[in-house]
Amino acid sequence: MKHLLSLRETDAADIRRILETAAAFKEILRRPVKKVPTLRGKSVVTLFYESSTRTRTSFELAAKYMSADAVNIAVAQSSVTKGESLKDTLRTLEALTADCVIIRHSSSGAAHLAAQCVRIPVINAGDGRHEHPTQALLDILTIWEHKIVGREDDTYPRALSSERPFDLRGLTVAIVGDLAHSRVARSNVWGLTKLGATVRWVGPKTLLPADAHQLPVRVHTRLEEALEGADVVMALRLQTERQEKGLLPSLREYSRIWGISPRTLRYARPDALVMHPGPMNRGVEISAEVADGEGGIRAAIEEQVTNGVAVRMACLYLLMGEMMGAGE
Ligand code: NCD
Repeated sequence: MKHLLSLRETDAADIRRILETAAAFKEILRRPVKKVPTLRGKSVVTLFYESSTRTRTSFELAAKYMSADAVNIAVAQSSVTKGESLKDTLRTLEALTADCVIIRHSSSGAAHLAAQCVRIPVINAGDGRHEHPTQALLDILTIWEHKIVGREDDTYPRALSSERPFDLRGLTVAIVGDLAHSRVARSNVWGLTKLGATVRWVGPKTLLPADAHQLPVRVHTRLEEALEGADVVMALRLQTERQEKGLLPSLREYSRIWGISPRTLRYARPDALVMHPGPMNRGVEISAEVADGEGGIRAAIEEQVTNGVAVRMACLYLLMGEMMGAGE
């Protein structure tokens, strides 16, 4: 692996390798001193042209827990505002001796362009409505922990040593909401189906992407139908920053029809796991009771965030650390 740009281009073996590594790194996060020397002397730069709380922070913490130096470029205060192009900005970061760049950008394809400009590894932390591979990887790790480790193996190490540790065959994941603008939904389709899961998409017709029929996903138009028998229900935020006006009649109506609430969740399996990539708009795509896991509802939203740190540690390690030799 040289870069991590999309899960469409990542094969199942590499996806499994990242997830196995992340599962092993989770132990470090439980230690009182969360620091290993694995990436000592390496430097990681986060270059975010769009806002972020969890993704940027978890990349930074992941780098720091592995002893790499992490630097964040605050785009609003950088030379980007003076007109510097993406290509020149990246070349500058490479000349500054960065060993890896993590990029988020509002244009689909920006991460691929970045990877063509520099020799160092590039990680896509979200490009427009295209892909967000590390988010899907952390989602898959969370699903696996709940649905596979819990179901077949009573302990984590045993699950990891089983012959096909990240086999999701038999699981159905329903992704609900603003699919047209969601890079999370797209990366999840590729990642989940490569590991054998079935993915369903459901949302208002105005929020379905035109190319949905070309993706390995079953598209539904009624929530009840899409949630029937689902093991996992993933709610998406309405990406108002990417939407044209007039796609939805009203937020109240959207929330009544498509919002994941104790009422609509009854369509899914009783043990369905509820997920959301965050940031959540409570009362819109997800109700507060569901988000907080009240009344026996299984919500994994905070676990997703924690798993994000482990997944990003794994990605940084596999892209930079292995080159140095694991023993160092
Ligand atoms: C997602 C994103 O930025 O695509 N957030 C995240 O990384 N956790 C989803 C979103 O913004 O709704």
